Amino acid sequence: MIKFLELKKINARYQDEFKNQFDFFLDSGSYILGEQVSSFEKEYANYCGTKFCIGVSSGLDALQLVFEGYKSLGALKVGDEVLVPANTYIATVLAISNTGLKPVLVEPNKETYNIDPLEVLKKITPSTKAILGVHLYGQLYNVEALEKISRDYNLLLIEDAAQAHGATNSDGRKAGSVSNAAAFSFYPTKNLGALGDAGAITTNNEELANVIFKLRNYGRKSSYENDIKGFNCRIDELQAAFLRVKLKFLDSDNNKRKEIASTYLNSINSPSILLPTIEKKNAHVFHLFVVKSKKRDELKDFLFKNGIESFVHYPIPIHKQLAFKNWNAVSLHKTESIHNEVLSLPMNPMLNDVEVNKIVSVLSKFH
Ligand SMILES: Cc1ncc(COP(=O)(O)O)c(C=O)c1O
Repeated sequence: MIKFLELKKINARYQDEFKNQFDFFLDSGSYILGEQVSSFEKEYANYCGTKFCIGVSSGLDALQLVFEGYKSLGALKVGDEVLVPANTYIATVLAISNTGLKPVLVEPNKETYNIDPLEVLKKITPSTKAILGVHLYGQLYNVEALEKISRDYNLLLIEDAAQAHGATNSDGRKAGSVSNAAAFSFYPTKNLGALGDAGAITTNNEELANVIFKLRNYGRKSSYENDIKGFNCRIDELQAAFLRVKLKFLDSDNNKRKEIASTYLNSINSPSILLPTIEKKNAHVFHLFVVKSKKRDELKDFLFKNGIESFVHYPIPIHKQLAFKNWNAVSLHKTESIHNEVLSLPMNPMLNDVEVNKIVSVLSKFH
């Protein structure tokens, strides 16, 4: 069986270095917010091309701390509307509702699966204060269009870059650096994945960075002085050490993903399968390679019978989840058709040529 993703295999490559880092960590006696965290923050800010990086406990916490940070600075208040793509992972929307803001769902572009700037314009009201864009599956949203809208309407622009570590815009700017503030997840399956939960915020805004540094650690200014009410959302020292090891290989892993994607794009040939649209050269880092088919469930079974595991990202739209009951009667046609048709093929840097060729040849037999 060709597995969708084998984390053990991915991380086995770094086993010796992880063990060295663990020994070093044990020896250091410094378990919380030590040197590994501050070094990782410098290295990741440098990688993304931003002035600041704040390591935190997860991608959801990273998003929530961005909103809490802006609330502390008075730039957002409870009840403000935040525009967000309807087609995303639920954590994106939870970050808005969990912080007392109001998520407003926006339909995606059916080809790129990302938020549609024309649909964004339709949803702006006097209460709209921010746009939370998502670089879904590893491809940047339309950066220039969202930057223009946020300038024209004086809105904060925030990136959910959880699936797009290392993705670049056509002008060379990286995910994490094309907005006022960005949130990353280092959940183990991500392009840059820890060995547990972790996340980060990147920004060029010093005031925001300073407030988030405090918020992640009880709002404290120094050991026993707390000038704002904060949380415990610290990144773990050991995860920071592991992430530092893997960061050095992020670009080569992303290049391998791009090679596999280019084979898929050039070779999969079935009238029943629609390949993803790649908007700009080099922008996509293929966290997921997502095809569409009207016969998605049959395709999934067909692949499984031929020894290939695949997944659906995501089977139930957020507005149809019980957690968001108030939206259950709403119809969002583009979002729903995407959820009914998408299928994610195996995509990770450990796939070999034989496996990729088998996936291509099996898919090309599907009619
Ligand atoms: C788009 C998106 N946003 C946010 C998150 C939340 O990240 P985490 O699982 O680290 O909280 C994830 C992944 O899980 C995600 O895919």
